[in-house]
Amino acid sequence: MKSLIVCVSVSHGNTTKVADVMSEVLSAPVVTPDEIDPADVVGYDVVGFGSGIFNMSFHPELRAFVSALPSHQAGAAFLFSSSGFPEPPFRRYTRPLRQTLRQKGFDTLDPFSCRGFDTYLPLKLVGGVRKGRPDADDLLAARTYAEQVRTKVGTE
Ligand SMILES: Cc1cc2nc3c(=O)[nH]c(=O)nc-3n(C[C@H](O)[C@H](O)[C@H](O)COP(=O)(O)O)c2cc1C
Repeated sequence: MKSLIVCVSVSHGNTTKVADVMSEVLSAPVVTPDEIDPADVVGYDVVGFGSGIFNMSFHPELRAFVSALPSHQAGAAFLFSSSGFPEPPFRRYTRPLRQTLRQKGFDTLDPFSCRGFDTYLPLKLVGGVRKGRPDADDLLAARTYAEQVRTKVGTE
């Protein structure tokens, strides 16, 4: 199974911790958008795209990378994120990016999300929230998620 993980993790490295666990399970290299040409993202069985959440969106670098991907993709793709808070029902930021992946031809899998240490102002003033996250339980959940991806994509 040929796998790849593209990750932007600029705030505290929270999402990189998730990406590293998924990378182990899927035997997938983890790259940042500036380490790979979007045109070279072809022929993968599965590609994971992840970042922290900033102002209720995936990181702009990740969104730009996804937009620049070649169309007519044949494999599966999934989104993953770490954020201070769960996705609010009034602003589903996963949906538009998933839609873009679908338009590129990917078979999109349900996303993974966990909490991450958050020092966004004014939370910074109180020392941040979700200290220590992602924790061992979050990383176990990420591992379980990646195992499910491996099973699903590997048997298709
Ligand atoms: C400028 C800024 C904006 C943020 N906006 C949000 C947000 O809208 N929703 C949320 O749940 N967390 C938000 N966060 C928290 C980050 O999503 C969280 O810290 C994430 O784990 C960062 O991932 P990273 O360390 O991989 O970059 C924000 C953090 C910063 C610094």
